[in-house]
Amino acid sequence: MAKTLNFTCTACGAATSKWSGRCDACGEWNTIVEEKPLSSAGPAKKSLGAMKGRSIPLTDLGTAETPPPRTLSGMGELDRVLGGGLVDASAILVGGDPGIGKSTLLLQAAARFAQNGVKTVYISGEEASAQVRMRAQRLGLANAPVLLGAETNLRDILTTLETEKPRLAIIDSIQTMWADNVDSAPGSVSQVRAAAHELTTFAKRNDMAVILVGHVTKEGQIAGPRVVEHMVDTVLYFEGERGHQFRILRSVKNRFGPADEIGVFEMTGSGLSEVTNPSALFLSERGNPSPGSVVFSGIEGTRPVLVEFQALVAPSSLSQPRRAVVGWDSARLAMVLAVLEARCGISFAGLDVYLNVAGGMKLSEPAADLAVAAALLSAREDSALPADTVVFGEISLSGALRPVGQAENRLKEAEKLGFSNAIVPKGKKGAKIAGISQRAYEDLTAFVGDVFGA
Ligand code: TYD
Ligand code: MG
Repeated sequence: MAKTLNFTCTACGAATSKWSGRCDACGEWNTIVEEKPLSSAGPAKKSLGAMKGRSIPLTDLGTAETPPPRTLSGMGELDRVLGGGLVDASAILVGGDPGIGKSTLLLQAAARFAQNGVKTVYISGEEASAQVRMRAQRLGLANAPVLLGAETNLRDILTTLETEKPRLAIIDSIQTMWADNVDSAPGSVSQVRAAAHELTTFAKRNDMAVILVGHVTKEGQIAGPRVVEHMVDTVLYFEGERGHQFRILRSVKNRFGPADEIGVFEMTGSGLSEVTNPSALFLSERGNPSPGSVVFSGIEGTRPVLVEFQALVAPSSLSQPRRAVVGWDSARLAMVLAVLEARCGISFAGLDVYLNVAGGMKLSEPAADLAVAAALLSAREDSALPADTVVFGEISLSGALRPVGQAENRLKEAEKLGFSNAIVPKGKKGAKIAGISQRAYEDLTAFVGDVFGA
């Protein structure tokens, strides 16, 4: 007899046959709840009409070179993250922590699309239309030709969309929507999946783009946006640190453009404003050169971004010293520390290590290894790198420095922001930029000896 999979993870949607404290699929704690998976719930039956069972030759779909038709919002940061504008009839998920600014961003985007002649419906399941209008007033968008709806029943929403026939529908948020043919509470994995499925299918059939908003939930009964990631064409996450004004919109999946593209915004009293030069913003709080601070020239998506790494190294009173990281991968930090110890004989035993990426930015590029090593050494030796220096390069386990992609773009961005020195890995054909003098090293030992005299 087949096992019945009655338990579902609200973070990733994985189904299991028994409860456990931790989801085997995604590793999250306290996210498993008892709930029938979607297969037993059954989506609404609706005839596909003339298209039923018919297939079309691939060659009839136009030439392969034709790019998908796109519409620009006019918000450059958003358009770039979408891969160059909104693709017609596509489904997009915008996830993020509650209160990060998703509704603000999408209301602004809705207004811009509507002003560009795209018929746009904004459906809020969380706020009444009057509240949305108040927000629009605050954002200076009260006169934008956006249609507002305050609706949570999926059937009502689909009826509205069928009569209005918009080209873009924004659903804020997918967790508040419920389908009356699914037998579980709004926000549950089955409901969220069913609602997302119905809305994306409707969008594809009716040549309408749909943007689903999803709150990232830490635990409990509410399903998170990851549950619907596989149903949509594009997944964007809106990130930011509390206490920072910067917000980063990042594409983690995009069928129509590069993933890992970022758009940078600043939350102001009158909504989100675009930050077209993020490097300047991330470095704006930098003061005099201080030990532990190193500027890294990174690539986010298709564009270079300069960010500051800050490291602090202090004697530890713990038997197992602390390794605290904000904005970078802690496993990667452990690796850099291990290579420093094994290949250069520089030990961090007995020392607490704190590493932070300034401005609330999250980095994942291995190209930051050398900048991290430089920040750690600078903090440990209490000696600052010259303020006009940028660093990049990947460290291998042997201690060798590996050249990284787009070196030229990294150096150009540094030059643009007034830097005149760069510490880089030695490559076969190094990029040359007139305004930047480069110091290239083959391995970490040579770098440590030359820069820190150790
Ligand atoms: P919101 O868009 O409601 O977040 P989400 O939809 O992701 O839950 O944004 C809420 C926060 O944004 C709130 O703390 C107030 C702040 N905010 C501003 O700072 N300026 C503004 O113009 C607006 C509309 C909101
Ligand atoms: Mg909201």
